[in-house]
Amino acid sequence: METFESSHVSKKKNTHVDLPGDIPQADLVKRFIRVNHAGEFGAKRIYEGQLAVLKDTQEAATIEHMKDQELHHLETFEKLIVDRQVRPTIFHPIWNAAGFALGVGTALLGPKAAMACTVAVEEVIDEHYADQVAQLTEDEKDLKETINRFREEELEHRDTAIDLGGETTPGYPVLRKTIRAGSKLAIWLSERF
Ligand SMILES: [Fe+2]
Ligand SMILES: [Fe+2]
Repeated sequence: METFESSHVSKKKNTHVDLPGDIPQADLVKRFIRVNHAGEFGAKRIYEGQLAVLKDTQEAATIEHMKDQELHHLETFEKLIVDRQVRPTIFHPIWNAAGFALGVGTALLGPKAAMACTVAVEEVIDEHYADQVAQLTEDEKDLKETINRFREEELEHRDTAIDLGGETTPGYPVLRKTIRAGSKLAIWLSERF
């Protein structure tokens, strides 16, 4: 019998929403900057939420390091928002609260659940950034390089969280699935609004 876990690993559902093919590159770039700015802000808030709960644990320094990298990602997209005159997402206040709540909520379940959250979020961000890089032309070489560099750091976060037992937390498959769905919804909304 196929277990829930094996089914959710093997039947990799493609919930990715394709961008319409007729979006001009300039609009696509604005959309990417808007959503990445939102995502990096959300990531910072998740790690802040985790630290609010786990500040005295042995995971604190690792989480702090990941938060600092998110801060650098966020500052980069903040600059791009200004330089390229991109309107930030209207959901910004929501991601402020939701990101922090997600960080606190998972950390309250324990350090491993916090790491499970990081694994799930960073997996989605990895796919999201890879997707963007594939769509950008060579005219946006610098932006592509930035996204690729950040993507590598997101993958480091994922690997660190796996090393710290993220995948061994009780209820991991459900937690992962839920957080993935939430992250993808946040991406979808931030790209468009
Ligand atoms: Fe990031
Ligand atoms: Fe990250």
